Amino acid sequence: MLNSFVLASVLKCASSANVSSGNPFDGVTWYVNPANMAEYDGSIATASGSTKINLEGMKNVASAYWIDVKNKIDDTTLRGMRGILADSAAKATPELVTLMHYNVPNRDCKAVASNGEICCTYKSDGRCDYTAAGDCAEGLNEYKKEYVDPFVQAINDFPSVPLVVVIEPDSLPNLATNLGNAKCGNMATQTAYKSGIAYAIQQLQTTHATLYIDAAHGGWLGWDDNLQAFISLFKEMGVSTSGVRGFAQNVANYQAVGTMCPWEPDQGTRNGYCLPGGSGGSDECCRDPCKLVSQYNPAVNEMNFAQALSKASQEILNWSPINIIDTGRNGVDDGRQDCANWCNPRNMGAGQLPTTSTGSPIVDALYWLKTPGESDGCTQELPDGTQCPRYDTMCGSSDSIGSGSGEPRSPEAGHWFDYQVKELAENACCTNWPPPVPSPTPGPRPPSPVPTPLPSPLPPTPTPPTPTPDCPGGSLSACINICPHDPSAVYQACVQTCLARCTSMDFQI
Ligand code: BGC
Repeated sequence: MLNSFVLASVLKCASSANVSSGNPFDGVTWYVNPANMAEYDGSIATASGSTKINLEGMKNVASAYWIDVKNKIDDTTLRGMRGILADSAAKATPELVTLMHYNVPNRDCKAVASNGEICCTYKSDGRCDYTAAGDCAEGLNEYKKEYVDPFVQAINDFPSVPLVVVIEPDSLPNLATNLGNAKCGNMATQTAYKSGIAYAIQQLQTTHATLYIDAAHGGWLGWDDNLQAFISLFKEMGVSTSGVRGFAQNVANYQAVGTMCPWEPDQGTRNGYCLPGGSGGSDECCRDPCKLVSQYNPAVNEMNFAQALSKASQEILNWSPINIIDTGRNGVDDGRQDCANWCNPRNMGAGQLPTTSTGSPIVDALYWLKTPGESDGCTQELPDGTQCPRYDTMCGSSDSIGSGSGEPRSPEAGHWFDYQVKELAENACCTNWPPPVPSPTPGPRPPSPVPTPLPSPLPPTPTPPTPTPDCPGGSLSACINICPHDPSAVYQACVQTCLARCTSMDFQI
């Protein structure tokens, strides 16, 4: 007979993150946060035309939710981790929640806009002194005890909720390429990131969450030397990748997904296909809106970057990551004067809807990871005219909303930015948005979102006999035919969409 200790261990193993358990986005409904939907409502109320229609579509799309301060963990409202997990757990079938684990000491060392609350050394005003020497022992202790451990505890308290966790955007990429910056190169920051993130991975691996580690984007780590430096960090940190599914790409950035080129390495793990002398020529997979090819960076889109991450990880770590790509805001890939401008660029558009139809076995899903509509950082003056506490000069770049005449000032990172979300809606790349499906009867809990994801993106439609812009597939039966059959809630929502869009035509069939 199994004694209770053995039984507990067996159960624990059964529920632990298990990479071989497959794509966590498959076969589950994706959770949409009602608190986030309420933010959309404010913008929808003052929008019109296609912007309004697209906002109504975007409102129902699942995205990741950022646990960017300690007190969000035990917050039981829908803005907090426990509130979100409880809301998902209360559904007939708990829905997949995607959370961003984002609070490493001396966070966002290269920039200012997202500097965090945990410091290796505090200044008298309570903010981080990024250049103070030391080993960050206190900051690390605070991170482990007051952020990582309670985060893990909260996950364990909701064993029924399928969960994806993205680990610490930008941090390890900063160590790979920005050590020349005194705030990143400082030993305290380096120690904080390396041992803090190694600890977080180690602890999170014991839970049932599926983990993706942030790998920035191709326009940052796509150069082969940057990529090698980044992947080598994991070796140095002694991270066991066995409980990690892969990387999160393009978080909060704007690189296009694109298509993956043939693998024709010209040196090491660098794909020479699109580079000068390569055979790619005008192949669509070499489309290069950010002018990276002339700088010998072949990761002109995120599919090519996924391939490069995979090749370098296999070579250096003997590990084959399977990744996710943030498509929340990458619907326009050539709208900036300079692709280095990352803070609230104008003219951007929402990208592809979350989907597991990625076309690549090394990419689990396209997903909205930076919650669209949430600011990247504030302009020097906040919308209310007071000073931005974390002003980053990149938020005053020539591409940033707020630097052009007639544009509004931008709010703090993470705050709702009405002007920006309307631009994202107006320029959304994939315009065939399904209309919002009516919400289920409101109960005592906050109104539940419709089953997610909405029934799109419907696969590229085969040429319909009588194409119409609104009815995917061109007829009711064709539309229903291309609805994804799993999970059933998604299928049903898709059928409803087809009925709403195609019925008048269907009577002709
Ligand atoms: C901010 C976070 C915010 C997140 C999602 C980040 O850039 O630093 O505070 O929660 O974006 O909007």
